[in-house]
Amino acid sequence: MRLLVVGANGLLGSNVVRVGQQRGWKVSGTYHSTRPAFDIPLTQFDLRDCDLFDDILTEHNPDVVVNCAAMTDVDGCETNPEQANILNGDAPGGLAAHCDANDVKFVHISTDYVFDGTERDPYSVSADTNPIQMYGKSKLVGEQAVTEETMDALVARFSFVWGIHRSSGDLTGFPAWVRGRLLSGEDVPLFTDQWVTPTRAGQAAETLLELIEHDATDLFHIACSSCVTPYQFGEVIADHVGSSEELLIEGSMDDVERDATRPPYSCLDVQNVESELDRAQPTLREDVETVWNALH
Ligand SMILES: NC(=O)c1ccc[n+]([C@@H]2O[C@H](COP(=O)([O-])OP(=O)(O)OC[C@H]3O[C@@H](n4cnc5c(N)ncnc54)[C@H](OP(=O)(O)O)[C@@H]3O)[C@@H](O)[C@H]2O)c1
Repeated sequence: MRLLVVGANGLLGSNVVRVGQQRGWKVSGTYHSTRPAFDIPLTQFDLRDCDLFDDILTEHNPDVVVNCAAMTDVDGCETNPEQANILNGDAPGGLAAHCDANDVKFVHISTDYVFDGTERDPYSVSADTNPIQMYGKSKLVGEQAVTEETMDALVARFSFVWGIHRSSGDLTGFPAWVRGRLLSGEDVPLFTDQWVTPTRAGQAAETLLELIEHDATDLFHIACSSCVTPYQFGEVIADHVGSSEELLIEGSMDDVERDATRPPYSCLDVQNVESELDRAQPTLREDVETVWNALH
């Protein structure tokens, strides 16, 4: 399989590169501002130049493209909605159209923030969307554009992505911040009024490539099977760091002033990916265990 990863230096993108290589696939990638340290063919590409994507397909000749690039700064999207619309709303449809014209399978990543957070049971893939901030609105436009441009695209929604960046080797995202504070003996304020199903980037990359091998199309939710608050996620990390839970401080989303509103509940129901692949998604504890074993 020839795999082209768009956004190969992102957290997810670097994991998709790594998992593709582990499977013996012929992997190439694009990057935006920083060239990742992978020994694969790489081309600089800006999502704002979608017209040039045809040349990139000719250069790398992939069977499948996985688009891991996006404007992921939720507050940045709120203050720069034009940019959010271009990168998250317009670009995915442009990439999908080029893939469709060249008979290349297209895989796109979306977000749990397409939901408004008013539910208290995990959102299924058929649940109504109603994004409440610019990031989610622009990502929803992107999802819809992809499915309009190509019949057999695979779209996967993630929630609260974290893991090891496979170019730098560093633990990235929320657990890195929690671990850092715990190790230096600092208090860790954590929300008790937000619920998410954290997506480990390495596990998501494995799952995406399995779905590609299954020739799956349509929409999937990829996350762990545990619906937790950041505080509960912090408790699991504290267990693994071997640190006292006394440093974990209960906090509220209202304590923090941010440009964009977050949904209080965005847990994803992962049943459709579990039945497609005939296996369970990991629990959060299993995901943390996997990462800690890899780091130590
Ligand atoms: N992070 C989360 O919690 C979360 C939650 C749900 C869904 N998702 C989705 O998961 C996917 C992967 O996210 P991630 O966590 O891996 O994010 P990430 O680490 O921030 O990676 C985003 C990538 O997009 C690239 N990018 C940004 N602007 C670009 C541009 N103008 N042209 C080309 N590339 C550009 C970035 O490159 P540069 O850094 O070089 O600009 C980076 O490689 C995204 O679709 C995101 O919306 C993320």
